[in-house]
Amino acid sequence: MTPASSEAGAVNARLHRVHVSGPVPARITAALEEDFELVADTVGAEGILSLIPTTVDEAYLERAGSSLRVVANYGVGVDNVDLEAARSRGVIVTNTPGVLTRATAELAVALMLSLLRRVAEGDRLIRRGEGWSFSLEFMLGESLDGKTVGVIGPGRIGRETARLTESFGASVMFAGRGEPLDELLARADIVSVHCPLTAETHHLIGEQALAKMRPNALLVNTARGPIVDEAALVRALAERRIAGAALDVFEFEPHMTEQLLAMENVVLTPHLGSATRATREAMGMLAVDALRAVLLEDRRPDNAVT
Ligand code: DGY
Repeated sequence: MTPASSEAGAVNARLHRVHVSGPVPARITAALEEDFELVADTVGAEGILSLIPTTVDEAYLERAGSSLRVVANYGVGVDNVDLEAARSRGVIVTNTPGVLTRATAELAVALMLSLLRRVAEGDRLIRRGEGWSFSLEFMLGESLDGKTVGVIGPGRIGRETARLTESFGASVMFAGRGEPLDELLARADIVSVHCPLTAETHHLIGEQALAKMRPNALLVNTARGPIVDEAALVRALAERRIAGAALDVFEFEPHMTEQLLAMENVVLTPHLGSATRATREAMGMLAVDALRAVLLEDRRPDNAVT
């Protein structure tokens, strides 16, 4: 071993071990490599950068072992992490709030507009090669202007979605944090879901909630799939008890409830809420900073959720 390589080995030996649970942007890998030794296995890791599809439960934490100090979740939602199990092991869990607010709110509005103005439906029609020509009564939609948007979950993303829809001329109602859901369901033209997935919000939009919605109402979900009972949603759509739905997240993600695929009044996107390069990199850097705070500075970062 040359003196230079033994020196590099000594430096490496001092680096904290971090496991990354899936592919991340190159910029994030580079930032991690500056400060940490990236390890392929969770066993013995001191930090974990967990992606949303990774279930960080008791068994996962147990496998990582007692050297684990921090799980930096690459997302604002932390329903994939058993917070209680982490807490009881003294493991800090962090998330990525703020940096994805605009991107996710934008997608919620894009889905509303796509439903209202039949964008995806029109795209499908053209791709099927169906004959069409401009005509005054053809594929008429509706404007967001003048609609009442019901925002479930008045957190950062919900409030930003409200603000954006107001700029289109919509008026907004909120539910959650003390604001009742029933009135929103009964009055909103568009119900947009922005609350976190918890035991309380699982199937929040189920048979009963759907029954309270107006027959002309649209449902938009950019939060988490299991907040909506998809079987109940399919029934409500098929029986025309609501007018349409746009889903970016799914109850059994990435598996689809088959019947949704055949419905023209349904718009589907593959969990793209935060999917802009700038947003994904900003989320990654927040997670890297959280790992640095805990492992290098022995400090609890502001975005700790445990
Ligand atoms: C989040 O951050 O929770 C998103 O769903 C991932 O893009």
